[in-house]
Amino acid sequence: MTPSDVIRAKRDGQKLTADVVRSFVDRFVRGEVADYQMSALCMAVYLRGLDDAETWALTEAMLHSGRVLDLSSVPGQKVDKHSTGGVGDKVSICLAPLVAAAGVKVPMISGRGLGHTGGTLDKLEAIPGFDVRLPVERFVAQVAEVGCALVGQTDDLAPADRRMYALRDVTATVESIPLITASILSKKLAEGIDALVLDVKVGRGAFMESRARARALARSLVRCGKRGGKKVVAILTSMDEPLGRAVGNALETAEAIDVLRGGGPRDLVELTLVFGAEMLVLGGVAKSIAQARSLLSSRIADGTALEKLRTIVRAQGGDPAAVDDPSRMGTAPVIRPVSAPKRGFVRSLDARAIGLAAMSLGAGRRRAEDAIDPAVGIVLEKKIGDAVHPGEPLARVHAKTEADAERAAEEVAGAYAFAARRAHPARLVLERIS
Ligand code: URA
Repeated sequence: MTPSDVIRAKRDGQKLTADVVRSFVDRFVRGEVADYQMSALCMAVYLRGLDDAETWALTEAMLHSGRVLDLSSVPGQKVDKHSTGGVGDKVSICLAPLVAAAGVKVPMISGRGLGHTGGTLDKLEAIPGFDVRLPVERFVAQVAEVGCALVGQTDDLAPADRRMYALRDVTATVESIPLITASILSKKLAEGIDALVLDVKVGRGAFMESRARARALARSLVRCGKRGGKKVVAILTSMDEPLGRAVGNALETAEAIDVLRGGGPRDLVELTLVFGAEMLVLGGVAKSIAQARSLLSSRIADGTALEKLRTIVRAQGGDPAAVDDPSRMGTAPVIRPVSAPKRGFVRSLDARAIGLAAMSLGAGRRRAEDAIDPAVGIVLEKKIGDAVHPGEPLARVHAKTEADAERAAEEVAGAYAFAARRAHPARLVLERIS
């Protein structure tokens, strides 16, 4: 079939065979299918959808468009976690060392922030010297020796996804469940993992704003992962307000470190334990979620999880002293409180608006080539359900200049809404799909 035959078939609602899908992706990677033809196919998929067999065929073709890591030399189950992205989501930074300290291998390949959501790599790079670009051999060796490595995607892992995503981003075809499924899983399966836990975020700060769409994505990811022979669990979690209190790279990394020290905000601790417990069960070191949670809590209490983070930081060229002294990650010159305008209770706190305010301070990127300032961000003193009194700080803006602080403070103030009666935050964990 010529590329236009394939596009026409999908445009007209026909099912594509695995061979046709594979050949289309292979030819695209070799430059024989043009960008405009791939874009047209993505639009046809957006409008007509793919069934499970087609979605798996696309995932497999994208997965094999580049290198697939072989972690078979590393004993034990290799388990990773992926989040669809949210504001203040620093779970990976405490989760990965914690799960590794409990005995499951975590080969974690993460992304950078774009738009209002942050990225794990940018948060890790707030640690002076921390290198997220390990050569593959070092990555594999570190997973074997330390139990965990935290790196960025290399150009040779699922290259079809990178190129397709760039086209989807500018042709209004990102929001397609089969395309998102193939995009996420092709990258994750290229890591050579045995099992995957997915955090599918729902709400105003998330990629999927409606629960029905998030559920459909989660189900698609679980079904497709299973076709690929992997154990996959997806959990829908709420992202109406930011996770934890810190938004901004060094601030978030410090908050994640607090969790490993036995502190940290309740919602962040809870999600870390929820995902950690699933990973321990999938990784075969715990028989039940309850047993896994208790093992994780003991790894925090006895300091081994924090020590694991120091070991990872040292292994990746970072300054392990930053784990004990977060000021080594940098501090912003201006810290300005945002005051409560009246008495009442926080009714809502718009995660997207907070993410955008942090981005405008320099914590995130508008375009992929923008530089990040690790020290800037926002610390939320009040979250949904908290009582406020006039003049009390709702949040503190950490900025590079007074002008930045002033502008961000207005944006942060606008993200809060108040009520006379206490509102209860949405449940954090909404649904589990396996
Ligand atoms: N995240 C991804 O990795 N891919 C998508 O298509 C959407 C979100």
